[in-house]
Amino acid sequence: MAIESSCDETAAAVVKNGREILSNVVLSQIDIHRLYGGVVPEIASRNHVEVVDRVVKQALADANLRLSDIDAIAVTYGAGLVGALLVGVSYAKGLSQALGLPLIAVNHIEGHVCANYLTYTDLTPPYTCLLTSGGHTAIINVLDYENYNVVCSTVDDAVGEAFDKVARVLGLPYPGGPQIDRLAQQGKPCYSFHSVITSNGNFSYSGLKTAVINLLHNAEQKGERLSSADVAASFTRAAIDGLVDRLQQEVTASGAHTVAVAGGVAANSYLRSRLSDMQRSGLRVCLPKLSLCGDNAAMIASRGYYSYIDNQFADLTLNACPTLKLRGEKPHH
Ligand code: KG4
Ligand code: ZN
Repeated sequence: MAIESSCDETAAAVVKNGREILSNVVLSQIDIHRLYGGVVPEIASRNHVEVVDRVVKQALADANLRLSDIDAIAVTYGAGLVGALLVGVSYAKGLSQALGLPLIAVNHIEGHVCANYLTYTDLTPPYTCLLTSGGHTAIINVLDYENYNVVCSTVDDAVGEAFDKVARVLGLPYPGGPQIDRLAQQGKPCYSFHSVITSNGNFSYSGLKTAVINLLHNAEQKGERLSSADVAASFTRAAIDGLVDRLQQEVTASGAHTVAVAGGVAANSYLRSRLSDMQRSGLRVCLPKLSLCGDNAAMIASRGYYSYIDNQFADLTLNACPTLKLRGEKPHH
């Protein structure tokens, strides 16, 4: 069983052998945070506290199991909001202690990667993963279930963060990614922006965000009104083309046969269509089911399973780690 509470979703799931979802309960707080235009950390923590018990019970009920059937408790301990993470970590520690079950600490980002194992039961490392979430943007070589090598990553904002910020400027409600996705499908990508790939092959999204803001402000000063759909389509193309182009470069250089995509932005329809074009060139492209792209506990359980069979356990000293990095991730400064 796994518990996930790193941001604004309270989630619990039961997964068998790392691959088969027996239950997957996700309780989203989006409606609450929408009132404030983004996630309010203190409110997120309080809501996790209120619902975590109910969510765990629901996950057991949906799987038709009792706590005594569970073999181990996995929990997200970072990266994320410290107060939110602490709710899941404390709850998982309590459960593991009360039931005498092993406790497994899971890195949220590695969890996103493992969402692919639940969609493609035959997928095994090595493969190359494009990680695209609200907090992280990177290309990772997945060497085996425990070891990851970060090829490149963002030097500033994450791609999902850029979607959310641009949506805000366009006056769209939180979370902006799905809203921009919908709007972009009605627009033409008629504005061009600089590439998000930096000169040394990393990603940078803050310049793109500023370019969109400048475009809108300049039009406003001239008394023109731009089509939001055209702006959304142009932004989407710039934001996603960089990811896919850099992924293609990496695949060409490494000769990888399989790529997998992970994180909330993997739900983007333009990204999904560009990746299916890549697939036509003989590459295997794995995309998690839409329901597994965003935050959920099934992906945490899958990652936890591989620690379980490798005897990697945590103890009661486990703490939340809000700035947890991927193993092998180098700082840019
Ligand atoms: O992976 P995730 O659920 O949370 C983090 O761990 O960060 O990613 C959430 C991000 C948000 O920024 C959201 O706007 C974005 O994923 N997102 C999308 C789409 N659906 C979610 N971005 C673009 N297009 C989408 N369809
Ligand atoms: Zn996430």
